This record gives sequence, structure tokens and C-alpha cells, in this order.
Amino acid sequence: MNFIQITDTHLVPGGESLYGMKPSDRLDGGVRLINADHGDAEFVLATGDLTHYGDKASYEMLKEALAPLAIPVFLMMGNHDSRAPFREVFPDTPEIEGGFFQFVLESDVARILCLDSLNDVPGDHIGRLCETRLRWLDAEIAATPAAKRLIVANHHPPFELGIPAMDAIMLRDSEPLWEVLQRRLPDLMIFGHVHRPISGVWRGIPCHIQRGFNHQVALEFNPAAATMFVDELPDIAVIRNVKDGIFVFTRSVGGETRSYPPDPVNN
Ligand SMILES: [Fe+2]
Repeated sequence: MNFIQITDTHLVPGGESLYGMKPSDRLDGGVRLINADHGDAEFVLATGDLTHYGDKASYEMLKEALAPLAIPVFLMMGNHDSRAPFREVFPDTPEIEGGFFQFVLESDVARILCLDSLNDVPGDHIGRLCETRLRWLDAEIAATPAAKRLIVANHHPPFELGIPAMDAIMLRDSEPLWEVLQRRLPDLMIFGHVHRPISGVWRGIPCHIQRGFNHQVALEFNPAAATMFVDELPDIAVIRNVKDGIFVFTRSVGGETRSYPPDPVNN
């Protein structure tokens, strides 16, 4: 198993800027890097907030930007997305009952269950996983062979991080999700939404949150602080099954200026 995670590309219509950066340029850089160095990956998984305004023009731009990718790409919903215009532009994305974009990605050693935590209340950025979506998750966990690793991907993390502005819009249905996960705890959960690279453990489950591709949320734990964004280079995550573990390797897009051999004496 070897796949790439990207997240929170936040494309805007007409290739405009967002917070002083062009999301389409940032994404183009990611596509070039993946094509140049990671063509052996099985696919790219984008974990939501594909666009900033959830409009059709931005999804069309996204389609155009992803077209040069040499490997397949799978797209998940985030709180900035909108299902109807997304469906018009990407009609082949699998849907479950209720029109939610949830699907399974199968590799030789793992099943990746991709969830859709977009809230049905327009403009409400809190994540939701209703009974329909969780019932699907329960059935797919049950269908996952014990010998295969289980990865669950969702846009919204189900836990607080101590970053007040993001904790306020985390997944609301953490406890119902936790109940479903009792059938089998995932080997790994991956998320977007927070726009910061974070790794840790939630109730025993290893978790990875991927850095946002356009703008980043400042590392700010002061509860009185307003939400602040900062400019950092975007990352891709290369998620690999290596011998007896799954590991997440992050790599900056545009951060490398040269490569060189180690010092032969003191490497
Ligand atoms: Fe986002």
C-alpha cells in the first residue's frame, strides 16, 4: 500500500487569490511533484475542502488542475464543499444512500473507508456524521477482513486539539462515531480541516492530520486568540505500508532547493 494524501486545496473561481495566495498554483505544484517523484503511489486521496466556496466554477478548475495527474485521484467532502455542484462536475464519485460521498479504497493490504462529514446545514462548518453515514461505516468495517489493515479517512477530526477556533468546528458526532469504531479500532485515522500537520493518538487510535494546501492555521493555543492564518509551504503525505507498520511521510511542495550526498565521514 502506498498512497498520497493532500487536503484543503480551497480552490477559488477564476484562479483568484485566497489570503494572498493562488490555491490553483499551489495545487499545480503538488501535481507536478507527485508526477515527478511519486508515480509509484496507487492513488491520491484529497480529504476535503476541495474548494473554498463550493461553487461549480471552482470544481471545474479542480478537475482541470487534477487532469495531468498520472495516478487516480479520489475526492472527499469538507465543510467548504457543496455536494450538488461537486456532483455535476464529478458525476462518477461513488455515493451512498442519502447522496453522501462515502466510498472504499482497497489496496493489497488495507481498506480505506472514506467518510463525508459535510454538514447538511449550509454555512455551518461543524462536521456531522449522521446515522446513515455511520451505518455505512459500521457495515464496511464489518466487511473488512481481519488480515487487512483498516484506515478511516474523514475531513473533520472527532477530537479537541486545544486550538480554540478549530475545536469549535470539529466533528459533532464523535461519540456515535466512537461507538461504531468499537467493532474494530482503525489502524490509522487521517483527517484534514485543521490546516496544520498534527500526529497523535485518539483513544488508542493513531491519527494523522494533514497540513492545508493553501493557507495554514497558526499554532495558537491561547483561548482568547482570534483565528489566525499563516503562510507555510504545502505538504503531500505519502502513506505507506512498510513491513509491519503504516507510516506517514510528509514532504513539502517547493521546499527543496538542492539534493546532495551525505558527508562521507560524518553523515
Ligand atoms: Fe479547510
